[in-house]
Amino acid sequence: MSGKILVIGATGNVGRPLVRELVAAGEQVKAASRAATVISGAEAIRFDQADPSTYQDAFNGVDRVYVLVPSDRLDVADYLTPILQAAIERNVKVALQTALGVDADERTPYRQAELFLERSGTPFVIVRPTWFSDNFHLSWLPGIKAQGVIAVPAADGKSSFIDVRDIAASAASALRSNQFDGKAYNLTGPASLSYHEAAGILSTVAGKEVRYQPVDDQTFIGILTGVGMPADFASHLASLFYPVREGWTAVVADGVETLTGKPPRSLETYATDHAAKFKN
Ligand SMILES: NC(=O)c1ccc[n+]([C@@H]2O[C@H](COP(=O)([O-])OP(=O)(O)OC[C@H]3O[C@@H](n4cnc5c(N)ncnc54)[C@H](OP(=O)(O)O)[C@@H]3O)[C@@H](O)[C@H]2O)c1
Repeated sequence: MSGKILVIGATGNVGRPLVRELVAAGEQVKAASRAATVISGAEAIRFDQADPSTYQDAFNGVDRVYVLVPSDRLDVADYLTPILQAAIERNVKVALQTALGVDADERTPYRQAELFLERSGTPFVIVRPTWFSDNFHLSWLPGIKAQGVIAVPAADGKSSFIDVRDIAASAASALRSNQFDGKAYNLTGPASLSYHEAAGILSTVAGKEVRYQPVDDQTFIGILTGVGMPADFASHLASLFYPVREGWTAVVADGVETLTGKPPRSLETYATDHAAKFKN
């Protein structure tokens, strides 16, 4: 593979460490974002999914592309379809990030996108990460800082939290080799933990007690809308905890090790590396 790698979502949680991995490995990377934000070592390119005039420049010279749906978008099919079509038309290999468990129901938009890609004839790899460890600072930090509380509707459900650096490393391997093509990989951390257990780990690094407060969906939605989140998105986030309560996110998968040759980082490692964020 001699062409460039286009990373769509290059300024995001997975995109930034992915660009870093690919640049460090000597790849020519086009880092795409709507503002053509410069990321060290990569070529900054303006790309807006909603603006067809940006597609040709973005895909120029590219033979592989990383595609994910921004975390604030609920219109998964509308967002992904033009990007996947653009890649397929150009026979560009697609590494598509969806989410753990989407293959449980063929009707979900993410699974439909996977099937569209699988049937397209273009080379592809799918990565399906579980809950990000990084949500503890990206999403739950205000509650941790203000009240020492993580309030989510997970009941006693467990999740095998994954560090975004391991998603990025897995994605980089999938993009840099063709030995993984044509398959989907479930990406998880090394251990399945309840939110009580996760709070215990965060307490240690924060140097203060962090408690898990189980809440019901309506309370959770109220907390999120209370800090300005749109109601439809808050409801969507609440719905994502149903699989957690059902125990479906407790699975520990070997995708990271298969793709990278290394075991994934533990939640302890994530928490230690981000310790400063959790201290008051
Ligand atoms: N969080 C979790 O626990 C979890 C678990 C499993 C799966 N996932 C999946 O992971 C995905 C989110 O990954 P992430 O957190 O890395 O995403 P993210 O941080 O929200 O990144 C979004 C990226 O998309 C870019 N973007 C936004 N709108 C765009 C547009 N119209 N055209 C082109 N680029 C646009 C943003 O760049 P600019 O704003 O700079 O343009 C940014 O680089 C979601 O699909 C989610 O379902 C998340």
